Amino acid sequence: MAASVSEPSSTDPSADALPTPTIAPAEGKLGVVCVGLGAVATTFIAGVELIRRGMAEPVGSLTQMGTIRLGKRTEDRAPLIRDFVPLASLDDIVFGAWDPFPDDAYVSAVKAGVLDVARHLEPIADTLRAIQPMAAAFDPAYVKKLDGPNVMADVGKRALLQGIRDDLHAFREQHGCDRMVMVWCGSTEVFIDQGPAHADLDSFEAAIDADDPSIAPSMLYAYAALLEGIPFANGAPNLTVDTPVLRDFASEYGVPICGRDFKTGQTMVKTVLAPMFKARMLGMHGWYSTNILGNRDGEVLDDPESFKTKEGSKLGVLDTILQPSVYPELYGDLHHVVRINYYPPRGDNKEGWDNIDFFGWLGYPMQLKVDFLCRDSILAAPLALDLALFLDLAQRAGMSGIQEWLSFYFKAPQTAPGLYPEHDLFIQHTKLKNTLRWMMGEEQITHLGVEYYAEDYLPEA
Ligand SMILES: NC(=O)c1ccc[n+]([C@@H]2O[C@H](COP(=O)([O-])OP(=O)(O)OC[C@H]3O[C@@H](n4cnc5c(N)ncnc54)[C@H](O)[C@@H]3O)[C@@H](O)[C@H]2O)c1
Repeated sequence: MAASVSEPSSTDPSADALPTPTIAPAEGKLGVVCVGLGAVATTFIAGVELIRRGMAEPVGSLTQMGTIRLGKRTEDRAPLIRDFVPLASLDDIVFGAWDPFPDDAYVSAVKAGVLDVARHLEPIADTLRAIQPMAAAFDPAYVKKLDGPNVMADVGKRALLQGIRDDLHAFREQHGCDRMVMVWCGSTEVFIDQGPAHADLDSFEAAIDADDPSIAPSMLYAYAALLEGIPFANGAPNLTVDTPVLRDFASEYGVPICGRDFKTGQTMVKTVLAPMFKARMLGMHGWYSTNILGNRDGEVLDDPESFKTKEGSKLGVLDTILQPSVYPELYGDLHHVVRINYYPPRGDNKEGWDNIDFFGWLGYPMQLKVDFLCRDSILAAPLALDLALFLDLAQRAGMSGIQEWLSFYFKAPQTAPGLYPEHDLFIQHTKLKNTLRWMMGEEQITHLGVEYYAEDYLPEA
């Protein structure tokens, strides 16, 4: 629990005050259990299997392909991140999953239609068929468009919680896992506001016993993981682990957590473009974002209550980046609209359009339009991999509670109470790399760089 996030003070605490953590080696097997065995999870699992068989490259994964600069620019030290920090090897990962649909990972991947069957699924069919989903702690009241038969008996929330814990024990035993990580790759649940049930452990436990509707299945999975000492990443916008009770519990029990909602497509682009407008002090009248999406996720989001959960995480970024209260002349009258339309012909190949009405010098209007023909799960799979590996690293480094340095991966990053989230993708990227430098006792890179110009700037020195 050495580096848990505590209440923020009025100024950012200096990283120098925190001792470099000791990191336990990544020995033995790492169990990665996905809640949901749909498009993202199967693309993630199949991708890792293809990569470890030497049949594909881990494109899109910072842990596998990214480098990190160390020291001064003149030192020429930039190892691969995976050679710099002790990450689990892909060969040591064992996958498991829960899903209300009984399809194994092969059948589910074929149905998801993301990967080419002959090229990317048939050659690894044996491995994928062996991944059978465990019966889900599922309740259609929280995901209105889905209903599947592979579910735990309708026994109440306390029994579901115990059922998930039993599954985790059995999985650990069966596969001889030394460590585990849970990644929520399940559907977006209906919107749930933070309420009294999420305030502290007593109310949370009482709400579980009372089958209180404010305890969603995702909260039971997350709580089960924390009780078992298993780090948890939330790839959906659900409230899940972003509550006072589970935040505090994760800190106290020494378990890392992070969320919410993989930042893959339109919001990733938004958190690159919006800082550009802001950096140049260009004003904005409106940002209209719309999407067509035809996969199961799109179908779930066609329900207004699930869309409300998604809308919240998609809408939040602009206000935080543009700060209309600080710059009312530039952003005080901004219209930000986000739509998602379920359109089956496109499957997982989402198309996202953005129209930005902005203005420059003397108020002259301009427009920028983006048409992003993306592949949702192709963008999300490497994020799931990086999160599993980094959460496991954080746990071995004794870092518990909210892992804000993993904001890079999320639309609505979890932060300590009282801190606003950092949304700018490249600030998030810098934060992530500086955290790795700090973990390994390397100097922080501030980009100040005056030392290269010492003679010009400090002629007397
Ligand atoms: N680029 C992306 O793909 C992207 C980006 C951000 C967030 N997400 C989120 O990631 C999640 C997964 O996306 P996807 O495209 O794989 O969706 P998907 O519909 O293909 O898969 C989700 C799976 O979760 C299962 N599920 C639902 N409730 C469950 C429960 N209680 N227990 C176990 N399984 C459950 C569903 O049956 C489904 O098979 C969604 O919430 C989505 O909004 C995806």
